[in-house]
Amino acid sequence: MKGIILAGGLGTRMSPLTRITNKHLLPVYDKPMIYYPIQTLVNAGIRDILIVTGGNNAGDFLRLLGNGKKGFGLDHINYTYQEGEGGIAAALSLAEYFADKDSICVVLGDNIIEKNINHAAENFRKQKAGAKIILKEVPDPERFGVARLDGDKVVEIIEKPKAPHSNFAVIGIYMFDNTVFEIIKTLKPSGRGELEITDVNNAYIRSGTMTYEILDGWWTDAGTFDSLLRASNLVAKTGANNL
Ligand code: DAU
Repeated sequence: MKGIILAGGLGTRMSPLTRITNKHLLPVYDKPMIYYPIQTLVNAGIRDILIVTGGNNAGDFLRLLGNGKKGFGLDHINYTYQEGEGGIAAALSLAEYFADKDSICVVLGDNIIEKNINHAAENFRKQKAGAKIILKEVPDPERFGVARLDGDKVVEIIEKPKAPHSNFAVIGIYMFDNTVFEIIKTLKPSGRGELEITDVNNAYIRSGTMTYEILDGWWTDAGTFDSLLRASNLVAKTGANNL
């Protein structure tokens, strides 16, 4: 399984911080934000990693991470560039060539977890085809993609619902087989003008090949001023990525 970190978009929600660097390089406690999703993949045994970046400061990633040896012990890191911010699924479509025929684990560049996804990754490797999402109960599900569950099945995901069916947010870590790139080609832009990852996930649900796991430990995004502060406080308190 290959790893893809989506760190594109323009980060306009966090201006003026993002006028001088990319959102995913802002500090979360004692490390740049991007360190956490990289560590999430490395902990799950994924060493072949592509970072999709964008905006005016994409060169900063190379200055910070280089070939990934320092800090992560990687042999190299692959980079690509997203123009504009056409959505998470649009950013992911840029990884088709990199993924080749392999399955992939996609991590949003602003998603941070306390522990690891090793159990989910292990199960997905056995699953062979389809997709897997990871859920976490949250007090504010309306901020996220929310899963509607029926027993041990996820029957639908609704993006930022006004009246959520459950408290289970879909976290920004997804595992897909190689058909994901064909699914993305069928998508139409949503109301917010983006190709939505939730539409990709719903396509897998409709085909009956979606599984899910519940995340152990805390999870947060860090893409707003409030969640960035929360992320820093959580990392300061407990550490992240089992470190
Ligand atoms: O954090 C988890 C949530 O992430 C999920 O629950 C939602 O279902 C999913 O749609 C997403 O919601 P957001 O609206 O919070 O995503 P946002 O637009 O903030 O983008 C999250 C990351 O994805 C961002 O840090 C970088 C990457 N991204 C996003 C866009 C729009 C790209 O690489 N390119 C893009 O064009």
